[in-house]
Amino acid sequence: MRYIDKVNGTKYNHPVKMEKQRGRNMLSDNIGRSGSRLTFAGHDVTHLAEQYGTPLYLMDEERIRRNCRMYLQAFRSSFGGNSLPLYASKAASFKQIYRIMAQEGMGVDTVSSGEIFTALSAGFPPERIFFHGNSKTDADIRYGVASGIGCFVVDNTEELLALNREAGCQGKKQKVLLRITPGIDPHTYDAVNTGMVDSKFGVPVETGQAIEFVALALTMENLQLCGLHCHVGSQVFDEDVFERTVDLMVRFMAQVRDELGFTLEELNLGGGYGTRYQDSEPQVDIPARIAEVAKRLREQCAKYAFPLPRILMEPGRSIVADAGMTLYTVSSVKRIPGYKSYVAVDGGMTDNPRYALYGSRYTVYHAEKSGGKEAVFDLVGRCCESGDIIQPKVSLPEDTCRGDIIAVCTTGAYNYSMASNYNRLPRPPIVMLREDGAYLAVKRESLEDLCALDI
Ligand code: LLP
Repeated sequence: MRYIDKVNGTKYNHPVKMEKQRGRNMLSDNIGRSGSRLTFAGHDVTHLAEQYGTPLYLMDEERIRRNCRMYLQAFRSSFGGNSLPLYASKAASFKQIYRIMAQEGMGVDTVSSGEIFTALSAGFPPERIFFHGNSKTDADIRYGVASGIGCFVVDNTEELLALNREAGCQGKKQKVLLRITPGIDPHTYDAVNTGMVDSKFGVPVETGQAIEFVALALTMENLQLCGLHCHVGSQVFDEDVFERTVDLMVRFMAQVRDELGFTLEELNLGGGYGTRYQDSEPQVDIPARIAEVAKRLREQCAKYAFPLPRILMEPGRSIVADAGMTLYTVSSVKRIPGYKSYVAVDGGMTDNPRYALYGSRYTVYHAEKSGGKEAVFDLVGRCCESGDIIQPKVSLPEDTCRGDIIAVCTTGAYNYSMASNYNRLPRPPIVMLREDGAYLAVKRESLEDLCALDI
């Protein structure tokens, strides 16, 4: 049975009715079991695997919307009506996600002409797009200015000069934030640690370069300097990272006012709140953390007699990670007596490179069997290298065999967006799940797609 969505014409398939038994002993309350069958967002995942094939990315649309609303409400109550959370779309970028963000009233953070193009193609309002990146090309700058995007987050002096020139050529006055490196260690893994003085991103306060950067920006006739941006890292669990960032940024904003006679009105604190991938990790209470940040902001502003700035933040992972699940089909089970056992599936580091890159942890479930005898396996992919591991040492039913469906949880962030065609593997589709049905948001790549650009 199918019906057409009134908003975007998408076709939905009705879900198989599942007895709701969500959350109990599972990683997240959108994951459940109905008997021994795994459910996600109330859908039988085996049924979805049969219908759409594997590997398959699933996205729980209600969860994405719930996460957006959590941020919007927390922002309104903690920072006031003119604050705005921006979805960091590097976490997952495809047209439907921008439509959802537009409907929810979020802004978006983009980092390339490609992300901007995708957002605009989906009808996302350009004035709510922020354009980041430490290495924007002339073409990026031209495209961003011409598209009328709301704000450039300028990373360095060369970009500042190039943007000023381009805005002048196009006869525009472009709004900008300046990216400042606060010099704060968020205690996360190195690849996502961005706020330290020696970072490739932004201009550091400590070396005195940041104040010169602001002074230079104030002389740019085609730019309107709105405020500052900073981002200290991703997958942050430390309690006071954002408070320490606020201390430093407000002190620096007061320094700008005192030395340059200019009051900056916006402060973007970046993204980074951590997501729980395994039971052993904590669940960050984001509204409570935001309330603490707001408290600290008010204290610091009072200390320097500085007017409360408009606050922006850029959550990516915490909007989409727990809305995602990836399904695979088992191809082989290999037991090497005295050594280890492998479960190999039909995807791998091409659709999820995060263990290979960062040693990231995941929770893995068998989709149809539970409660029986288990064994420990390395869950590996089909790519031609030994590092193609999705997750080592996972507990799965001992009798797991070819054809079984395996689910990897919390794959909504930095999986599809980091996927590749290594070994000429087609990228999986994305199926969105709602209470009233499931629909395709991104099609599966075909073998022809793989050769589409070859001459
Ligand atoms: N703002 C800026 C400037 C960023 O660089 C990032 C992430 C975010 C916001 C969003 O951070 P989030 O809320 O998602 O933590 N590929 C890595 C993550 C890279 C994060 C890069 N920047 C991973 O898979 O863990």
